[in-house]
Amino acid sequence: SDRLPIIAIDGPAGAGKSTVARQVAAKLGLVYLDTGSMYRAVTWLVLQQGIAIDDECAIAELASSCEIQLTPSQDLQSPVQVWINGTNVTQVIRTVEVTSKVSAIAAQTAVRKALVKQQQSWGKRGGLVAEGRDIGTHVFPDAEVKIFLTASVTERARRRQEDFKKQNLPEVNLEQLERDIAERDWKDSTRKVSPLQKAADAIEIQTDGLSASEVTAKIVDYCQERLLQLSSL
Ligand code: CDP
Ligand code: CDP
Repeated sequence: SDRLPIIAIDGPAGAGKSTVARQVAAKLGLVYLDTGSMYRAVTWLVLQQGIAIDDECAIAELASSCEIQLTPSQDLQSPVQVWINGTNVTQVIRTVEVTSKVSAIAAQTAVRKALVKQQQSWGKRGGLVAEGRDIGTHVFPDAEVKIFLTASVTERARRRQEDFKKQNLPEVNLEQLERDIAERDWKDSTRKVSPLQKAADAIEIQTDGLSASEVTAKIVDYCQERLLQLSSL
């Protein structure tokens, strides 16, 4: 077919999805899609408009009518700029406030329906490295390559702490980070609609003790092998 391949990368918070997906996309000449930033943008809009996070009707209306744009940028810290209804929310969607509410919003059926529809329309012609929680299971079940990235909670909390340090943000307590991550893992894995789950045909990469570039290299190798195998069928 003339459709370009889709690489699906799923896994829990801090597994390295964003970092690695961005590197894999650059190496393979594909477009990087961060679906988590879309759930974060909707969460920001809900908070900004003063809508209660359990007001599913109002949130459904908002999610189906909002316009999300992801645009490339030269900024190395944020190579993708995130916009919702014309406002640049690239920075504000990373706050503790948005992070603590996003899993509750992302569990709502109407929100997922609206965002998945948008993601699938962007992926119609393939050519994506898409990263999130339900890419291989629901968004692109026919993806040519499916990766499930994991790491221990301790390792993932340590990575987040490093990220804060690098950005010169105030120091956060490691135990607190571990608790926050474990709570989000639990919410994302136990929700009714498309929970975080490894697709049956995904390969799992345990990343404790591996650098991001080592993980990227493994994935690129696997992609090349898979795509060659598929093209010879
Ligand atoms: O970067 P981090 O792992 O902290 O989170 P993210 O990828 O930005 O995703 C934020 C939240 O959005 C997740 O905790 C999920 O609740 C939700 N999400 C989702 O439900 N489905 C996706 N495909 C991506 C994110
Ligand atoms: O998107 P996700 O929440 O899965 O992870 P991320 O936002 O890419 O954050 C992972 C952090 O850990 C980044 O600072 C990476 O440089 C670092 N890291 C990694 O991504 N992969 C490794 N194997 C080791 C470290």
